[in-house]
This record gives sequence, structure tokens and C-alpha cells, in this order.
Amino acid sequence: MLPFLRVGICQRARHPPRVPGAPWIRRPRLPRLPTAINRLRVPAPAMVARMATDGGAENPARDPASNPKVVMIRGLVNDDATDGWEKCWEEGLTPWDLGQATPAVLQLVRTGSLPRGRVLVPGCGSGYDVVAIAGPERYVVGLDISTSAVEKAKELSSSLPNANQFTFMAADFFTWQPTEKFDLIFDYTFFCAIDPCLRPAWAQKIQEILKPDGELITLIYLISGQEGGPPYNTTVADYEQVLNPVGFKAFSIEDNELAVKPRKGNEKLGRWKRLSHKSLL
Ligand SMILES: C[S@@+](CC[C@H](N)C(=O)[O-])C[C@H]1O[C@@H](n2cnc3c(N)ncnc32)[C@H](O)[C@@H]1O
Repeated sequence: MLPFLRVGICQRARHPPRVPGAPWIRRPRLPRLPTAINRLRVPAPAMVARMATDGGAENPARDPASNPKVVMIRGLVNDDATDGWEKCWEEGLTPWDLGQATPAVLQLVRTGSLPRGRVLVPGCGSGYDVVAIAGPERYVVGLDISTSAVEKAKELSSSLPNANQFTFMAADFFTWQPTEKFDLIFDYTFFCAIDPCLRPAWAQKIQEILKPDGELITLIYLISGQEGGPPYNTTVADYEQVLNPVGFKAFSIEDNELAVKPRKGNEKLGRWKRLSHKSLL
């Protein structure tokens, strides 16, 4: 589907069409992001903590909208998703960025529990997880819609010893056509960042670009009790709702004991395979 059409459908869902004859009501616009945000020196872990706690199931009473950075992200992304993510990266408005690979990924690599072959990390951001997964056994593609994110990821990683075992690409996950299918897709905080109306298309795309016996790993950031997004409310059932109809079944859903402190108790590691191919029992 063409990107503008996809975004249009989602925006129509959020903002129903005007009734003929009714007066135009201008949608309230959130203030433009001041470029001074670049100069805000908020330590990364504190920013992550605030975003994570505000949106976490641990504290569902607090809406992340109380965090001005989340309000700014929403203002940018809800207006125009593609442009909005780009602006977030340009302005350094990335409170989700851990500044390191997520410990669960490091553990999966260390324990040799990941499939070998071609791996995709959609919505890879700064690319820490891409670099962590890449090695002689796994070639990893990090994909992000934001060219600034991809530039940052390249800058951070181009001189690493495993640099020829991964690549970064700027493209829209929903319209991108890889030349080859993947053995593993790893999703961390991409599903909770996309508009929920895109979730069926997310599942469809995973099904389309994963090899029949490939594995999907979702590091699920459980979020509840909030209005709007991103990040959007996300439960295990939300994944099942879109993955089961395209043939995927979880063969393991476990608490992520290794979640970073602000997200502790709010993450689950889900491992999924296609039912039709092999019995998962
Ligand atoms: C919440 S961030 C998570 C980044 C990274 N996974 C991490 O954990 O740090 C979501 C990322 O998805 C990217 N993104 C949003 N929509 C996308 C799309 N349609 N295709 C590819 N990337 C997209 C954004 O630019 C952003 O970097």
C-alpha cells in the first residue's frame, strides 16, 4: 500500500471526516518543538526512566502526557508519522533510547539462543541491538524510517569489528521490499510506537518477509492505562490479536528479568513461529 494512503487511513480513524455543511474546526496543534530542546541536558537514563515509568503498567494511573517530551513526540508523530519521527531524531527527542543494547538481546546472543542467518530489526533507532546481534552467524539489517536515526546508527557503528556483518537502511517498514526473506525478526519498542491501526499491517508484513520456518522475537513493553500515543497501550493479547490470524503462535512468553530498571516488571520476551509450517508442541 502506498505510504500516504496508509497514513491517510490511520489519520481518518483518529480524525473522522468533516460532516458536509458543518463548520471547519481546526485541530488543535501542539506547539512546534523548540530547537532549544537540543540543548537540554537531561541525562539519558533519567529521560528513559520518566518515559518508561509514565507509560508503564507499574503506574497505570499516570498518563505519559504528563511528560512534556512525550507530548512533543505525540504532536510531531501524530501530525505526520514519517516527518514526525524524522523531526524527533533531528531534535534529539529520543527518550526511549537506552544508549546501549537491551540486556535481553545480549543474553540471547551469549547463550546462543538466536537463530542463525538473516536478521531484521525494524524501527532500529540508534542500532545498538543490530550491532549486538550481528556476527559471523548472523547478518543483520537495521531498518528505520528516519534518515537521521540511520545516520546516527552508522556513525556509532561503522568502525566496529563486526561492521561487515550488519547494515542500516532508511525505509518505511510497511512499504519496504527486501530482496531476501529473514530467518529472524527482532522487534523492540517498534510495535508500541506505531499507530495501533497499523498493527494488522505490521503482522502481515512480518508474515510476508519472514522465511516460513523463521522466528519472530518481540520484546514486549507492556503499557496500559493511557490515552493516545506513542507509546501506545500494548499487551501480549494485542500481539496475539494480530499475529494469530496470520498463522503465528507464541511458543514462549516469559517475563524479561533483564529489563532495564525503569522498565523492570513491564517487559515480556515473546518468541513466535508460524503454526502451519511445523508443530510447536
Ligand atoms: C520508540 S523508537 C524505538 C527505537 C529502538 N528500537 C530502540 O529500542 O531504541 C521507534 C522507532 O521506530 C521508527 N519508526 C517509526 N515508524 C517506522 C516505520 N514505519 N518504519 C520504520 N521505522 C519506523 C522511529 O523512527 C523510531 O526510531
